[in-house]
Amino acid sequence: MPGLLRQEPEQGYHIFERPIESVAVVGAGPSGLPAARHLHEAGFRVRVFERQPYAGGTWTFEPDLPLQPKYPSVPPSIGDFVPSLPPENAEHLPFEKVQKDENSEERKEFSPPNPVYQSLTNNVPTPCMEFKDFPWPEGTEWHVSHTDISKYIQSYAVHFGLNEFTSYRTRVENISQLDPPPGQSQPRWRLTLRRVEDAPADSAKSTWWTEDFDAVVVASGHYGAPFIPKIEGVEAWAERWKDDIIHSRAYRSAEDYTGKTVLIVGTGTSGVDIARDISPHVTKIYQVRRNQLHGPDHYQRQRSFQLKMLPANGEHLPEIKRFLPLSGAEKDLSECRVECTDGRVVGGFDKIIFATGYQYSVPFLSDYHLDPNTLPHSPHQAPDRVLVTSGAGVSNLLRDVFYIPQPTLAFLGLSINTATFSFFEFQGLAITRVWQGWARLPDERGRRKEYERLVEAKGGGRFMHLMGHENEVAYVRETVDWLNADGARVGAPLIEGHSERWLEVKKSLFAALLKKAGLDPKEFGVKDDGEPPARVGDGVDGMIDPGEVKVQKDVERGGKPESIEHAAAANGAPVTVAAAA
Ligand SMILES: Cc1cc2nc3c(=O)[nH]c(=O)nc-3n(C[C@H](O)[C@H](O)[C@H](O)COP(=O)(O)OP(=O)(O)OC[C@H]3O[C@@H](n4cnc5c(N)ncnc54)[C@H](O)[C@@H]3O)c2cc1C
Ligand SMILES: NC(=O)c1ccc[n+]([C@@H]2O[C@H](COP(=O)([O-])OP(=O)(O)OC[C@H]3O[C@@H](n4cnc5c(N)ncnc54)[C@H](OP(=O)(O)O)[C@@H]3O)[C@@H](O)[C@H]2O)c1
Repeated sequence: MPGLLRQEPEQGYHIFERPIESVAVVGAGPSGLPAARHLHEAGFRVRVFERQPYAGGTWTFEPDLPLQPKYPSVPPSIGDFVPSLPPENAEHLPFEKVQKDENSEERKEFSPPNPVYQSLTNNVPTPCMEFKDFPWPEGTEWHVSHTDISKYIQSYAVHFGLNEFTSYRTRVENISQLDPPPGQSQPRWRLTLRRVEDAPADSAKSTWWTEDFDAVVVASGHYGAPFIPKIEGVEAWAERWKDDIIHSRAYRSAEDYTGKTVLIVGTGTSGVDIARDISPHVTKIYQVRRNQLHGPDHYQRQRSFQLKMLPANGEHLPEIKRFLPLSGAEKDLSECRVECTDGRVVGGFDKIIFATGYQYSVPFLSDYHLDPNTLPHSPHQAPDRVLVTSGAGVSNLLRDVFYIPQPTLAFLGLSINTATFSFFEFQGLAITRVWQGWARLPDERGRRKEYERLVEAKGGGRFMHLMGHENEVAYVRETVDWLNADGARVGAPLIEGHSERWLEVKKSLFAALLKKAGLDPKEFGVKDDGEPPARVGDGVDGMIDPGEVKVQKDVERGGKPESIEHAAAANGAPVTVAAAA
């Protein structure tokens, strides 16, 4: 990513009008925890808020199922949850309310069980999913169970004393700016918080209060709001077959599918991993794939690899055009049929799993969301201030981290296709150094220019956040160079970048991933040194010819596949179905 942090002619630096003393961190997952550690060690008064009863983020397995999402998905501003605020007539805070919660629905909505299934292991080797100064135990395998990962994260929180200043079972319901003192523009931030606890007689007790901070780190993850595409008939089917249609976040165990015919929508990582997990147990898998690859080259390359990972009892289907209308006489799901975009009509499924990914959603910053087809009601929804529109990404951030209009608000964990733990720790170090005054940010004009260059180079939506190996390495190198160059001016200790070991292991990620799935890397064109083939389709039999692949740069849903279909239909052009089994 050349050009990041490039100095504009006559560019100045951002001036924080008041020193930052107190920081709130939203989320005690692999992003929030190392940031909390570094901020705390730098002397900030840190508070971490986490809705789960423990640290670990997405990695903690809970056998309970989340509540069914809406089909199709709800708008991103309420994608993760609908904020719950104290009643307007509450005379003072804290305010308490106890309510019946016989089926634990209130508590599940408050903190949904994570999208973790029994067989889940990490897909990035453990040496690359390691926090600084906290090595994995000697002899740890490259791929371990989610339980080991969850333990590793929780031990990190204990080791660095982070639980001392973390408020668990506490959800951030709203974040708003407080007016700055006269003549200043740097606001403080007010967090409205809700703690939910078990109460006697199958009840839940909610307590609301507020806390104010100089700065906020949002590290709330982006796998909480399921994305379910708008396909004709999906709502009626989901309503009728509540127990048989799920989103992948509710997938728990392959045994639940024994002897079934399963339709999986999506061939991303969840779709592929779940297909391979259930394959030995099921009669047949139908897996709906994209009609066309889209996005940057390395994204397409990953997706073509994933297409090749179809299990032997699997068959690809093109995208679904509609779920055919129900007559009401059907006794079970297997009697219903879908129509695919190539005109094929297919049925006989006992279960359907939507492995169609997630939306970016920060409901506690609702004034900074502008859902599609809604009118702005807040100045923060202006194009150069809004954070989330279609749910495909988070806009108006410098380097996926600093909110351009007001860099006392920062985000972690948004980038995709990275070795998450280590990558997000470097971003957390950048936040710490900037807020302690050891590293400088460009002024607002410079931040805006850099962001515009990024969108121009990568496109908007999810591709804005897409790293991939080379971009990830370059991003970290640039971050470390920047922090160390600025740090040298104030005598700050040097930050170490990726180690030689990290770089060596990361290079073989593709080969390791294929071996983990029981596949031969050579069959996928992966070279002896672990490098994947250079171009889409290279070394991958039956994949889409790169010449046919259209790169989309639209800003919605990261190269919005829906728009490919619509555009093709509008032009009367045939929709390409490639590599159908
Ligand atoms: C099925 C699955 C498998 C994955 N496998 C890998 C892998 O193998 N390797 C890899 O590198 N990455 C993997 N990932 C990505 C994974 O998300 C990251 O490893 C990592 O968990 C990201 O950390 P995070 O802290 O940014 O987000 P999360 O882990 O999602 O943590 C965010 C935390 O914020 C809390 N939170 C959210 N909203 C609020 C709120 N309003 N108030 C208070 N707390 C809140 C959540 O409860 C959660 O604890 C996987 C993701 C999924 C879904
Ligand atoms: N450790 C592991 O083994 C493991 C297992 C599961 C998940 N994960 C991680 O979890 C995260 C989420 O992965 P995910 O797979 O759930 O989400 P994802 O990466 O967003 O994948 C969603 C998939 O659904 C496809 N899709 C969307 N709408 C569709 C439609 N209408 N018809 C057909 N396909 C459609 C997408 O296609 P396009 O991409 O073409 O838009 C994409 O392939 C990732 O970080 C992943 O690495 C890791």
